[in-house]
Amino acid sequence: MQLKEKYLKISTCSSMSNTQANDGIPPDVLSEVKKYLQPFQLSTKTLQEVSARLRKDLIEGLEKHSHHKAPVKMLPTFVRATPDGTEKGDFLVLDLGGTNLRVLHVRLEEAQKVLEMGSWKRIIPEKIMLGTGKQLFNFIAICLRHFLKSQNLKDQTLPLGFTFSFPCKQLEIDKGTLIHWTKGFKCSGVEGEDVVQLLKKAIDRTKDCHIGSVAMVNDIVGTMMSCGYIDQSCEIGMIIGTGTNACYMEEMKNVKCIEGEDGRMCINTEWGGFGDDVSLDDILTEFDVEVDENSINPGVHIFEKMISGMYLGEIVRLVLVKMTKDGLLFKGQISEALGTPGQFETKFISEIEKPDSGLENATKILTELGLDWDPVDASVVRLVCDTISSRSAHLCAAALATLVNRIRNNRKLDHLKTTVGVDGAVYTKHPTFSSKLQEAMRLLAPQCDITFLVLEDSSGKGAAITAAVVSARLRKDLIRGLEKHSHHKAPVKMLPTFVRATPDGTEKGDFLALDLGGTNFRVLHVRVEEETQKVLNMGSQICTIPQEMMLGTGEQLFDHIATCLGDFLESQNLKGQTLPLGFTFSFPCEQLEIDKSILIRWTKGFNCSGVEGKDVVQLLKEAIHRRGDYHIGSVAMVNDTVGTMMSCGYSDQSCEIGMIIGTGTNACYMEEMKNVKRIEGEDGRMCINTEWGGFGDDRSLDDILTEFDMEVDKTSINPGVHIFEKMISGMYLGEIVRLVLVKMTKDKLLFKGHISEALGTPGQFETKFISEIEEPDSGLENATKILTELGLEWDPVDASVVRLVCDTISSRSAHLCAAALATLVNRIRNNRKLDHLKTTVGVDGTVYRKHPTFSSKLQKAVRPLAPQCDITFLVSEDSSGKGAAITTAVAQRLAP
Ligand code: BG6
Ligand code: BG6
Ligand code: GLC
Ligand code: GLC
Repeated sequence: MQLKEKYLKISTCSSMSNTQANDGIPPDVLSEVKKYLQPFQLSTKTLQEVSARLRKDLIEGLEKHSHHKAPVKMLPTFVRATPDGTEKGDFLVLDLGGTNLRVLHVRLEEAQKVLEMGSWKRIIPEKIMLGTGKQLFNFIAICLRHFLKSQNLKDQTLPLGFTFSFPCKQLEIDKGTLIHWTKGFKCSGVEGEDVVQLLKKAIDRTKDCHIGSVAMVNDIVGTMMSCGYIDQSCEIGMIIGTGTNACYMEEMKNVKCIEGEDGRMCINTEWGGFGDDVSLDDILTEFDVEVDENSINPGVHIFEKMISGMYLGEIVRLVLVKMTKDGLLFKGQISEALGTPGQFETKFISEIEKPDSGLENATKILTELGLDWDPVDASVVRLVCDTISSRSAHLCAAALATLVNRIRNNRKLDHLKTTVGVDGAVYTKHPTFSSKLQEAMRLLAPQCDITFLVLEDSSGKGAAITAAVVSARLRKDLIRGLEKHSHHKAPVKMLPTFVRATPDGTEKGDFLALDLGGTNFRVLHVRVEEETQKVLNMGSQICTIPQEMMLGTGEQLFDHIATCLGDFLESQNLKGQTLPLGFTFSFPCEQLEIDKSILIRWTKGFNCSGVEGKDVVQLLKEAIHRRGDYHIGSVAMVNDTVGTMMSCGYSDQSCEIGMIIGTGTNACYMEEMKNVKRIEGEDGRMCINTEWGGFGDDRSLDDILTEFDMEVDKTSINPGVHIFEKMISGMYLGEIVRLVLVKMTKDKLLFKGHISEALGTPGQFETKFISEIEEPDSGLENATKILTELGLEWDPVDASVVRLVCDTISSRSAHLCAAALATLVNRIRNNRKLDHLKTTVGVDGTVYRKHPTFSSKLQKAVRPLAPQCDITFLVSEDSSGKGAAITTAVAQRLAP
C-alpha cells in the first residue's frame, strides 16, 4: 500500500511536469510520441531497484578482494576530516574540470574566511584533450606560469592544490595514478601514471616557476570540502556537470582496503562507472547504447552517460532524429545540424525547459538548427527535453539516496539530517533539475532530511563562499532570536510585531501616517480605497529634524513631531477630525501590542535621551496632549520594514517579506507562530521584525570585517551596535569609501599623495556620490566633478580607481544583503516544506532605489544562494507610511 502510494505520488509528479510539457500536443501525436519516451520513464520501483544495485556495488568497491574489478571504484581519498574552519594560508589552485582549466590564488584566513586573490580561466582546446599527455601537462604548466607572472607571484613558492576531476588511485595526498580518462579527455600516456609527477615535471620544464607541496583532490572532494568549510554538517559532495560523481564520509572500519578501524574517510565513489558491468543494461535505451558506442570511451562510465551534461544533449538529438525519420517531426526532414553529433547542446535543454520563455526559445533553437518546424514540433521537442532531464534527475536521486541511506545505516540512526554540497552546470543552470531531484529524494530516502548547498565554482572559493558563510551564520542567529531562552542576548532581535496577517484587499478608510527614521520625516494623509484597491496619498509633508534634535532629549523630539503633525492637519483642514494614525518608527522596539512599543535602543543617526526603554506610542500621545489642540484615533505602530511589506502586500498578496536598504538596513517576514517561542499560540503566522542590522554584534562577523569597517564602527555614535548595518547601509557606505581612499592616498596610490581637507573629514564623501560615480555612462565624468569639489588633484587613473573602490564597496553591500535575504526565503520555504517557493519582497530605501546597479547585483547574488526560490522584488517609494495606514486598517479588520 505504502509502495503504491509512493508510486502514485511519483507518477503524479512526473505526469504533473508532463502536463505542462504536453501542452500544445494533439492527443494522437502525443500517444505516438509517448512510445519513444516510455523507456526513459522510470517508476519509483525501478529507481528503488537501481538504488539497491548501487548499494551492492558500493560494498563491492570497498571490499579488499573485490575492489579491483568493481565498476564503482570507491576510491579512498585520504581525507579523514571535513574542515573545522581553522585552516590558514596562501595557496595556488589548479582546477582541471570537464571543460575549463582554472588557476586561482586563494587565501584562507582564520575562521572561515576564504579570499580569492586572483583567478584565471581557459577553455581546454579539444586538440589538447585528445592529444598527448605531455602536451596536456605543458599546457597546464604554461597557464600556471602565465598566471603567476600576471599576479606577481613568480618568485614565491606556494603550496598547490590540484583538482583533477578524473578517477585516480590515490596512495598519498600527492600521489595519484589515473585509472582511466572520462568525459571528453583521452590524452595518450597518462593512464596508469602518477599525474602529480607528470605535472611537476612539466612545471620544471618551464624553468622559471616553482611550487611548494602538492595536494591532489578530485573535484568532488573539493566541492565537499569547500561546502564543509561553511556548513560543518556537509559530508557528501555531488557534481552534476560535464560528468557526474559523488563522495561521502565512510566509516574507516568499512574501508577494507586500508588499514585502520577508527574514524572516517572521504570516499570518491566514481559513481559514473555504475553499470560498466552490465548491471544497468535493462534500463538502457537504444539511444544510450548509441551514445556509448559513439563516445571516445565505449563501455566506460555508463551511468554518467545517462545523466551528465556531456551527453544529455546528444541523447535528445538521437531521439529527435529517430522521430523525424519516422515522420513524426519536422515534416520528416533532418537538417544537416540535427544530423551531426554534438550539435544539439545540453544547454539547449535548459533553455527549452524555461517555464515562461521555453517554447519561444525552442523555436529559436530549431530555426538555428535549420529545421522546418511547426508549433506542435516545438512542443514535442520540449517534452523530449523534459523527459530526458527528468530521467537524469531521478537517476541521480536514486544514487544519492543510496549514499544518504548508507550513512544513516552506518550510524544506526532513525533519521539523518545532513548537507550535500553540489556543483556542476546541469544542477546549477537547468531550471527545474534541482527541484526534480529533491522531489524524488523525498520518496527514495524518506528518513533523511537533506540540505543542498550549492556553490558555483566551488573550488573557486570566492565571493560565493563568503556570502554562503554569512547566510549560514545568520540562519543560526534567527533561531537564537526566536527561542524563549536565548532571545534576550541574541544579536539579531527577531521582534514580534503583532501583525498577524498581510492585507487581503478589503481594507479601507482615511488615515494619518507619521514616518520617522529614514532620510526624511514625513506626515501623510492616506486614503485606502477598497473599490479601486488603491492607496491614495491625499496630502503629505516632509519636515526636517535638525541634527541637534536627533541627539537631544526625547521630549524635544516628540514635541517637534506633534507640532509637525498639528501644522499638517491645519494645512489640510483636518484638525476637527479624529483619524486613526499609523506610526512608522524605524528603530528596534519590543512591541507588546500594536499600540505599545518599547524602544530597545536607537540606531542610525538618532540618540535622544530618555527614550530607550520607554513606550514610544505613549511618548507621542503625551506630546500631542501637551499641545492640546487636536486629537487622534487609534494608533498602530510599525517598523518601516513592516510598513513596506504591508503596503506592497496590498497590491501583491504574495508579499511576505519587507526589506529596507536605505539609511539603515533591516527586513521582516512572516514566521510560523509555532516557531515564535516567546509568544503564546501555535496557529497562524506573525510578522517578525528581524533587526538584521544587529547581526554581528556578538562578533560573529569579525572575520569578515575590514580595518575600515572597524574604524567606521569606532567613530560612530553607537560603537558595537548594528555591525552588519554598518557594512551595508547608506549611512555608512560613503564613509567606508572615504576611509579606503584616505589610506590609498597616504600610501601614494592616489591624488599624488595629497589628502584634501574635505577628504580628510568624516562624512564628506556622501553615499550618493557612490551612485553617481557608478552611473554606467556618466560615471567617470561624475567622478571627476566630485573629486574636484572635494578639492582633490586627480588624474584620469585616479578617477577610475575611485570608481573601482565604489563598485567594490557597493557590491559587497549588495552581496551581504543577498546572503541575508537568502536566509529568509530559504527559511520560509523550509517552514512550509516546499520544494519551490515563489514569493515577493517589498523593498524600499535610497540605496536600493537610487544606486544604478545595486538591485541587479543583489538579485543576481541571491539566486545561487536560494536556488529553489523565485523572488519578485516590488519596489515602492515612501512605502512604509502608506503601509502603516494599511496596518492600522488590517488591525481594525481583525479586531474582535
Ligand atoms: C566547477 C568546479 O565549478 O565545477 C570544478 O570548480 C568541477 O572542479 C566543475 O569540475 C564541474 O562542473 P562542470 O559543469 O564544469 O563539469
Ligand atoms: C522611505 C520610507 O521610503 O524609505 C521610510 O517611507 C523608510 O519609512 C525609508 O524608513 C528608508 O530609506 P531611507 O533611504 O530614507 O533610509
Ligand atoms: C567524471 C570523473 C570524476 C569527476 C566527475 C565530475 O565522472 O570520472 O572523477 O568527479 O566526472 O567532474
Ligand atoms: C535600522 C533600524 C531598523 C530599521 C532600519 C531601516 O536598522 O534599527 O528598525 O528598520 O534601520 O530603516
